[in-house]
Amino acid sequence: MSRRLMHLTGFMLYGPAPHTQLSWVYPTHKIRHQWYEVEYWEEIARTLERGRFDLFFFADGWGGGNGAAIRWAIQFPTHDPVVLIPRLSAVTTHLGFAATMSTTFYPPYMLARKLASLDHVTKGRIGWNIVTSINDAEGRNFGVELPAHDERYDRADEYLDLVCRLWESWEPDAMVMDMERKVFAEPSKVHRIDFTGKWYSSRGPLNVVPGPQRRPVLFQAGASGRGRQFAARWADCVFAAGGTPERTVAFRKDLEQRMAAHGRDPARLQIIAACGPVVAASEAEARERAAEISERIPVEATIANMSGHWNVDLTRYPPETRLSELGDVGGTRGMVEFYREQGDPTIAEVARTYLNMSSQDGFVGTQAKVADTLQWMFEDGRIDGFQLSPQWYAPDYYRDIVELLIPELQRRGLTRTEYRGTTLRDLLAQDTPA
Ligand SMILES: Cc1cc2nc3c(=O)[nH]c(=O)nc-3n(C[C@H](O)[C@H](O)[C@H](O)COP(=O)(O)O)c2cc1C
Repeated sequence: MSRRLMHLTGFMLYGPAPHTQLSWVYPTHKIRHQWYEVEYWEEIARTLERGRFDLFFFADGWGGGNGAAIRWAIQFPTHDPVVLIPRLSAVTTHLGFAATMSTTFYPPYMLARKLASLDHVTKGRIGWNIVTSINDAEGRNFGVELPAHDERYDRADEYLDLVCRLWESWEPDAMVMDMERKVFAEPSKVHRIDFTGKWYSSRGPLNVVPGPQRRPVLFQAGASGRGRQFAARWADCVFAAGGTPERTVAFRKDLEQRMAAHGRDPARLQIIAACGPVVAASEAEARERAAEISERIPVEATIANMSGHWNVDLTRYPPETRLSELGDVGGTRGMVEFYREQGDPTIAEVARTYLNMSSQDGFVGTQAKVADTLQWMFEDGRIDGFQLSPQWYAPDYYRDIVELLIPELQRRGLTRTEYRGTTLRDLLAQDTPA
């Protein structure tokens, strides 16, 4: 049996500030390309491929745009990754890509068609991060009212049922392109789906021939009970955020049970943890960088970010308000539940470290120290891989990761040194014990 290997993904959104507040602030003389220039993204894609990453992941959101978000670039602006990915797939050969698209906003037929087309353009390297969307501002941009948290997942279940049927509407050998008989495809092998659900309907068949993967790799990040139920039914790969290793182990156990209840093989579950290590050649240099990151972030910017994620205008509350006093949170509910379980901190206490990875000791230091942390989470915490989120100018952040951390992980036999297989599904399935 092949050795189990870590899966690595680069976490961005197609905008100036992927996750960590103000990570776009950087000495201008060191900037080669700006985030709005495609060369910036090509450089990152090539770097990730050089580090033998599995995936370049694009988060996405459709809200923001209030004063704080504009001033500090908090989840705003966000360009469309679906337009960027084909360009990046042309400058890479193995790296996979995932785009976030919302079941609440995209018509299912349109989404199934887009992803099937992307599977062709990327030669089988596309994945979909399924989200149900988080905040009312997003809904207002689409002119729809965001359904309540759990109902969004009820709708998403139906949505997935529909799009998967569309992807299966062509039998694998339907397209023959027989020049002699002048038959393009066998009509008996291309099927209508005649789907009529509570919220969605579609006649089918899909007007796209299935790509190399037929079904793109499905990613999801459900954290609440209802979100996990959804992930267990559909996802190939689940993201875990903000948890201790103990919590991640419990998260995995819970998901495995839920998967089994859906008749799926829990051994196939992949859990990817979000992190953003600050790696430097010396411990002192890494600490200095971490201190710079913390100084860079105004607390108001962090509170604006939390407000967007949680779908609550936190500026309306005094900073010493405890999270339990916020009542029902309709955005990323699972994340708020996590904090409440951790002693119910105040808004100000959460804001001090929110999405600032430089505040976690095990993730700040030399490559050997950070590799120890990752190895421990991978081996003892049963985490299958990591989402690495840039803490500074992304092309340099990933260059440092690939030049310092990756060789250390490779030397320990924890990550691949060469690619095998051709599709994203191959990459993620590989090196995972059956
Ligand atoms: C690594 C990661 C990436 C995410 N990316 C997005 C995203 O791009 N867009 C989005 O609307 N939500 C995103 N989310 C939020 C999740 O879809 C989900 O709402 C959140 O984890 C809370 O789970 P719950 O919906 O079960 O409460 C992300 C979450 C995580 C952990």
